[in-house]
Amino acid sequence: LVIRREDYTPPEWLVPETKLDFDLDPATTRVTAILSVTRNGDHASPLRLDGAGQKPLSVTVDGVAINDWRIDGEQLVIPLTGAAHVVETQVEIAPDRNTQLMGLYASGGNLCTQCEAEGFRRITYFPDRPDVLSVYSVRMTADQKHFPVLLANGDPVEQGDLEDGRHWATWHDPFPKPSYLFALVAGDLTVNRSSFTTMSGREVSLGIWVREADLPKTDHALKALELAMAWDETTYGREYDLDVFNIVAVDDFNFGAMENKGLNIFNSRYILADPDTATDYDYDAIAAVVAHEYFHNWSGNRITCRDWFQLSLKEGFTVYRDQGFSADQGSRAVRRIEDVRGLRASQFPEDSGPLAHPVRPESYQEISNFYTATIYNKGAELIRMMAAILGPEGFRAGTDLYFDRYDGTAATCEDFVTSMEEGGKVDLTQFRLWYSQAGTPRVSASLSQDGDRATLRLAQQVPATPGQPVKSPMVLPLRVKLFGAESGAALTDERLVLFEDTLDTIVFEGLAERAVLSINRGFSAPVVVETDRTAADLAFLSAHDDDPFARYEAMQQLMLDTLVASVEGRTDHEGVIAAVANTLADAALDLAFVAEAVLLPSESFIGDQMAVVDPEAIFRARETLRRDLGTRLEAQWRQAYARGEGQPYAYTPEGKGLRRLRSVALGYIAASGAADAADLAFAQFDSADNMTDRMGALTTLVSSTSDIRTTALDIFYSQYCDNPLVLDKWFQAQAQSSRDDTGAVVAGLAEHADFTLTNPNRARSLIGAFGANQRAFNTADGSGYRFLADQLIALDRLNPQTAAKLLPPLGRWRRFDAGRAELMRAELERIVRTPGLSKDLFEQASKSLEG
Ligand code: ARG
Ligand code: ZN
Repeated sequence: LVIRREDYTPPEWLVPETKLDFDLDPATTRVTAILSVTRNGDHASPLRLDGAGQKPLSVTVDGVAINDWRIDGEQLVIPLTGAAHVVETQVEIAPDRNTQLMGLYASGGNLCTQCEAEGFRRITYFPDRPDVLSVYSVRMTADQKHFPVLLANGDPVEQGDLEDGRHWATWHDPFPKPSYLFALVAGDLTVNRSSFTTMSGREVSLGIWVREADLPKTDHALKALELAMAWDETTYGREYDLDVFNIVAVDDFNFGAMENKGLNIFNSRYILADPDTATDYDYDAIAAVVAHEYFHNWSGNRITCRDWFQLSLKEGFTVYRDQGFSADQGSRAVRRIEDVRGLRASQFPEDSGPLAHPVRPESYQEISNFYTATIYNKGAELIRMMAAILGPEGFRAGTDLYFDRYDGTAATCEDFVTSMEEGGKVDLTQFRLWYSQAGTPRVSASLSQDGDRATLRLAQQVPATPGQPVKSPMVLPLRVKLFGAESGAALTDERLVLFEDTLDTIVFEGLAERAVLSINRGFSAPVVVETDRTAADLAFLSAHDDDPFARYEAMQQLMLDTLVASVEGRTDHEGVIAAVANTLADAALDLAFVAEAVLLPSESFIGDQMAVVDPEAIFRARETLRRDLGTRLEAQWRQAYARGEGQPYAYTPEGKGLRRLRSVALGYIAASGAADAADLAFAQFDSADNMTDRMGALTTLVSSTSDIRTTALDIFYSQYCDNPLVLDKWFQAQAQSSRDDTGAVVAGLAEHADFTLTNPNRARSLIGAFGANQRAFNTADGSGYRFLADQLIALDRLNPQTAAKLLPPLGRWRRFDAGRAELMRAELERIVRTPGLSKDLFEQASKSLEG
């Protein structure tokens, strides 16, 4: 069953008010829903309420029990004659048998909900679509001993005790909201509280709710929340609007977190942190996700989506907002590099594979499959491009207009673009193609010079994607600047070129020396740029460009060209070695930047550049370059490594930079084959006072052939086997190993007593990490493919959403040789043929076969 964007029609019935009463119990929860419904428009249709999996007990209309309701598919159909009625339904659900983790479910003895996108219908009958906005009042009753804390959206109203050991609480959310933002939590939780005074003087009580033992790990998240609230006031003029803002952390969660109005629910991995158990990367991710969910209060909740095709309206914009927040907390340049690396690792392959779809899709079978890097991260790049075209003032005028005009409504991507046009006084007609055309545009750029005059020739091509064979040229905002090859000085100011046609030429005059081209600076457009710049030009830019992203990019391009040539049998490492040496020696650079700049492109990114991916050849070429860099620059690596020695741990930009460079240096020392490398890594592992250094060492050890590897893994396991988030790292590190036996090790770990498919974090830490390990997953015998398919089929029975998310590595078959492609297709076919398959996994697997 395919849902199409063009088929959108407004809801036939509205629900201005919703009263819910939960009689909570893990085995059987009874839900009573009282909906005031009003007929929307002139039609005679009955009321249709979505449902899934619940047991209907009774239906009343205007206080009178009725019998003429029926179930059609999974919908409850109620004949109604008037323009407004009060409909009451009673159903039963079983939270403790809910393994999909959608709707109301049990996690670690507590009860919680996840409703986006279509989970609310698993709780009660309701028009479960984002354009039906309702004011909710919620009453919960539960056993006082097991569920002392009862939370829901909005503000608390009343609570009380009952005779039978049960108690109750009521909450009211004055803001009309769609059902996907509903949330409740009942559990034995404790709270870390703080308060925030908004710009207009409202006192907001903030709370992060966790199990008692986790309380000491919540300060970082709470601090991040306060920073995010202040940032949204200064940057976007957005203020919080309720008296309380609660966050609950749960261990079993299908994705990162959820922005339910006034009651965010989080995967505990994006809340809990202390130096002993969380890495710097975890700390950064926690702040980013806390900010992301908080920012949704305006971009998502106050203004929501008309239908799920508009998902990027809230997700792309909110990712753009959280990226801006993170950039302001530390190094803007490093943050941009990380975001682009993420985009290239997840979105580019999606955009060039069988699951490619536009930022505003035209159709879907299962909406859960569209919470993708394209909707989120490419969506954020679209906002970034509009911000670049409008300039800071125009962009702020555009967002002010958007928030003002659409507050309290369910809006569309088109509404956002219109606001940008009006606020920024620009015409974005052609820009809209970014919402409708899938595929990563490819730009070729070549600069030729004649005396003091240089001509930049640009050509663009948007590749065909499934369902979209022919594309029109897009608006590509390219930041461009020229540098003098001799002096290293800037020859021009930076220009924002709006490249809108298939071909274009730009002339630069008055150039006193030979110019070197710096293009797509700051990654101003999410495109692939091919240039004819020589290795010498790239090395020059990696040393002289004044845009740190462009410097990084020049180095990446140099490394990529070198690696691709090496896979093709032409090995010359000298240029890369000299450029890396130069970067290591540049005392003016931020250490975190250095660490990023000297890192080689990933195996899969190298593969993305090749017509046919040869995983073994890519691995060998990359390892050889790593070894040469390690040996030739051994003294420099040891020096960089020593810089961080003995520094007490502090989560500061400087501390993070030191640790990051230290781990990278350790990796190169190990790659050099130095005899003491494993001992050095083990010493770091053993003496580290923080998880960043411990994981840095373990990552190196886990790929080593030394016996110390096993010792370290065993120590790590015995130290942390009671901490699920850290144990995930133990599984993940082994699945990421570059050793020859990784496939066998991973298959063994799937049988480990601590492995389970019921917890999404654990499943992802092993199966997800393995699927992303290009060489280990793609062994020529197909054992990796078979393993993944077996796991996905098993996982699909428990949790279809998480299974579907892990499928994409199998869909890369077109990128490989015929032998591997055939083996991958066979596994995809086996999945598609599995009886009782979910529509989630079916959609992903069948599209992967066709695409
Ligand atoms: N809206 C949530 C967020 O971005 C994620 C919800 C994901 N839902 C899903 N069905 N995959 O923060
Ligand atoms: Zn989001």
